[in-house]
Amino acid sequence: MKILAVVNSKGGVGKTTTAVNLSARFASGDARVLLIDLDSQSSASFSLGVGRQNLTPSIGNVLFDQTPIQESVRRTSIDGLNLITGSMELANADVIMANVKGRENQLKLAVERISDEYAYIVFDCPPSLSILTVNALVTAEAFIVPMCPQYLALEGVITLLSAVEKIQEGIGETAEFLGILLTMVDKRSNAVEELIQMVRNHYKDTVFDTEIGISSALAEAPGFGQSIYDYAPESNGSKAYTELTIEILDRMLKKEGEN
Ligand SMILES: Nc1ncnc2c1ncn2[C@@H]1O[C@H](COP(=O)(O)OP(=O)(O)OP(=O)(O)O)[C@@H](O)[C@H]1O
Ligand SMILES: [Mg+2]
Repeated sequence: MKILAVVNSKGGVGKTTTAVNLSARFASGDARVLLIDLDSQSSASFSLGVGRQNLTPSIGNVLFDQTPIQESVRRTSIDGLNLITGSMELANADVIMANVKGRENQLKLAVERISDEYAYIVFDCPPSLSILTVNALVTAEAFIVPMCPQYLALEGVITLLSAVEKIQEGIGETAEFLGILLTMVDKRSNAVEELIQMVRNHYKDTVFDTEIGISSALAEAPGFGQSIYDYAPESNGSKAYTELTIEILDRMLKKEGEN
């Protein structure tokens, strides 16, 4: 198991922050890693220092214009971490791909051509269950769901997970649910603490032990085009994402053993 999608149809829950820093951490151990930015906002690409004028060729060109995927891969300033950028056209993916036969398999067909070159491939998904998220779920072997501990977010995750299940029933072989990640946790709030208990009681072991606390360093790092490991290696955010990486690798190994 090595292809992981970061998924939540709710916006602003820490998907991109998680995808970027997880990818950076994966790459820190000499592994070759590819991060694919599937969001029209291109936040993951900006977070790794790519300028708005420099997004082409993107995964949009691969999916919509038959650009060979090899040509869309670029290096980042992080050793071992490669990136395929997002771009604005991704916002129209559902319309552009509406009449494409086998449209939910297009990403998988492209990624298969290069997956041997990588130890890990990570997808940063858009905040919707668009055709791009469906493609990510078809291509990935596992997915994680970041969520902020707020009441409506909990309701959102319940809806999301049953929607994903329906999608998966419809298209057959798809990614396994690896777990829920609590992000932007504000430990000073009693209400947050109660909600976390609710989430942990409801989803039990599927919730990662690691919680990502509110961290100004995590919010600042993208502005410098850096991962948390370069921007603030000693920060709590950096420690938390390292703990999360260990938990994720552990779960991927376990799932592999079960299959
Ligand atoms: N642990 C954290 N502490 C403080 N700020 C954070 C944390 N995680 C993420 N942020 C900030 O919160 C905002 C939303 O995070 P992020 O972009 O990762 O979410 P997202 O789910 O990818 O959003 P979208 O759905 O729009 O793609 C960003 O400005 C990010 O820098
Ligand atoms: Mg994002």
